Amino acid sequence: MKQALEPTADASWVLSDDGCDPLRESDRATRFAISNGFLGVRASQTVNRSPQGVGSPNTYVAGLFDTPDGDRAVPELIPVPNGLQVHISLPGGPLVQHFGPGPSHALTLDMRRGLLLSECRLVDGSAVSARLVRLNLVSQDRRSLGLQMHHLEVERGESEMTLEASFEGLDRDLMAERLDNELGVWRTRRSGKRLEIAAAVALRIDGLEMAPVVLAPFKWSWTWKSRPGQIICLERIMGVARSAVPGPDAGVKALNELKAGRDLGWRDLLTRHETAWAHRWSSSDIDLKGDAAAQKALRFAIYHLNSAANPDDPRVSIGARALTGADYRGHVFWDTEIFLLPFYIVTWPEAARSLLMYRFHTLNGARAKAADRGWRGAFYAWESTDTGLETTPEQAVGPDRQIVDILTGVQEQHISADVAYAVWQYWQATGDDEFLIEAGAEILLETARFWASRAQPEADGLHHIRNVIGPDEYHENIDDNAFTNVMARWNIRRALDVAGLLRQRWPDRWSALSSHLDLNEAELKRWSDVAETLATGLDPATGLYEQFAGYFDLEDVDLSAYAGRTVPMDVILGRERTQQSQVVKQADVVALLALLPGEFNAGADLKNFRYYEPRCGHGSSLSTAMHGLVAARLGDVERALDYFHRTAAIDLIDTKSAIGGGVHIAAQGGLWMMSVFGFAGLALRSDGLALAPQLPASWTSLSFSLQWRNRSLAIRIDQTNRTLEVSLESGLPMIIAVYGEPHSVSLDQALVADIRQPVEPGDG
Ligand code: BGC
Repeated sequence: MKQALEPTADASWVLSDDGCDPLRESDRATRFAISNGFLGVRASQTVNRSPQGVGSPNTYVAGLFDTPDGDRAVPELIPVPNGLQVHISLPGGPLVQHFGPGPSHALTLDMRRGLLLSECRLVDGSAVSARLVRLNLVSQDRRSLGLQMHHLEVERGESEMTLEASFEGLDRDLMAERLDNELGVWRTRRSGKRLEIAAAVALRIDGLEMAPVVLAPFKWSWTWKSRPGQIICLERIMGVARSAVPGPDAGVKALNELKAGRDLGWRDLLTRHETAWAHRWSSSDIDLKGDAAAQKALRFAIYHLNSAANPDDPRVSIGARALTGADYRGHVFWDTEIFLLPFYIVTWPEAARSLLMYRFHTLNGARAKAADRGWRGAFYAWESTDTGLETTPEQAVGPDRQIVDILTGVQEQHISADVAYAVWQYWQATGDDEFLIEAGAEILLETARFWASRAQPEADGLHHIRNVIGPDEYHENIDDNAFTNVMARWNIRRALDVAGLLRQRWPDRWSALSSHLDLNEAELKRWSDVAETLATGLDPATGLYEQFAGYFDLEDVDLSAYAGRTVPMDVILGRERTQQSQVVKQADVVALLALLPGEFNAGADLKNFRYYEPRCGHGSSLSTAMHGLVAARLGDVERALDYFHRTAAIDLIDTKSAIGGGVHIAAQGGLWMMSVFGFAGLALRSDGLALAPQLPASWTSLSFSLQWRNRSLAIRIDQTNRTLEVSLESGLPMIIAVYGEPHSVSLDQALVADIRQPVEPGDG
């Protein structure tokens, strides 16, 4: 067992932290969280922890939403009973954590193996001392299973010692239906969901198993006489299931899972988990030489991205803090489609498909939201849970402590186009026609229908979309947001493409789908008219998009005068002045530039970036990544690198003072995007893959793998030799555009090309 508790030696794969500071406990609990897309466990202090302990020791189960009491309450992901507690005591009271030389409360996240390791020294005055090392995992191989191993070594002292292992929060937010010693079945109060947990414990002293005394359900105790050198191993396996109520055989699923875990035993359970992680890393790792901090940040990002998804559950998606914290209530935003899907599409297509099937399964919620407001088609929830109905709270406390109305649920409409965008990207990259036919086409058509009903013709001969909020949420009730309208136009055009494609290649499916949706030629014609006459705010003379109608007339605040500030710009200026200014919360036109670069003429990309970048206050964790991606593509590599490190710092340094509420998973996805789409210059195009590497000077090489239309490719960008090498590891030969020039690659012929020196933006 000792070997299993040793972290990976290479420091680029581990995150470590030592010490015990109650003020930082919650930060650590998030950063070191473990998850597998079904179970998420925060890395809180759980040894000899008092009930009032800090760090929100929550465990989450994906999709377990319920609505708390209160008139305006919205559904939220509720924490489930937490099975990590361990209490070690002597007759005189509990052992206490020792703060002295050596690890006092060390946490190590072994990202390569997907494990949380922790270590502390427990003492009772100077008479007794013991070293406790723990391993926690939630299985990447069988997602219903969790495992904890405790390795307690008595260093000093002979005494009666008691170890109690228990669960916390058995009756917190859920109603117990059944509570046996090893099995609990609960139901949510309102949402009709059931949770089952089965757990088993085993304790060995110097290799001999000791039977526990069962004190209460999920509470076991052992007492023995300690002596120096004694080794106590506690193993706890947990099987978890989520289902709907009423359902048959309450508890059976969790018991079956637990049995599977026990049959495996901890060694095999651990080995399979490690193998599953090795598999994930082999398709998603980015190996970066020359910048150790960037390498670690990328591994941290990829660790959390791989932890967040579950390819086997198409009924759930990833919340804005994944399964690592309570902020944003587990709600799903555009973050998933725009900032996370690219990673999954390219490295884990099964997970990408499942996330998109979630949007397919929530289409009815999106249709209901559109119909409620008198529009047609699918208007996706800005904040989505399990039903697809809108769950954005109506009010919140603003950063200046005032109660404000939240209009995003009604006005932040670009979400429908964002979902369509991800559907198209996935299909382009995978060629998964079955998905397109079964689900993707319907999403594209229904979102296009929404836009066609949403945009209204006006006297100027154009269609307009009024009263929206763009990605820049500082400005509400705006008209013709460039991001929204250009994405909407793109959405309609792709829907028309897909209608044409279905008609031509799968006519039976087209006739079934068009009759199911009651879609006829006249309506398609109308969509096309809307797309071709949609106002976009583009000034053809300058190539600049106006972020929304009237934006250029607003007060131009010089943000450089506020350099070094520690609070968001809307707090400094106040809400009203911010709304009357050109200060942008986050990438908006810049986000458009990142997603649809083809909508900008040559030279206009740089012009727009140069206009909007200095006006952005980066009030959202989503902002810096988009800017970095665009800066890298424009060849402004050192500026992009600065954005890279700023994005990495959001969670690793906690620059937004918000890590306690969960990992900013979109920022992590953005870090990956910046590296692959920015520095490596990867583009997923309808006519194939393109690469245009431009690495920061300090990055000597960058290597990663990707999946493209049933092929696996390995990319290596070597800055020392100034070469790009692409090897095809499986699949048919293909052509890749490198800086626009076609190159072929096949199983026996790698692609080798020279890489360019970064160009100064604006050169040539
Ligand atoms: C951002 C949104 C984002 C949400 C969840 C907000 O602060 O402005 O764009 O979707 O956070 O991450």
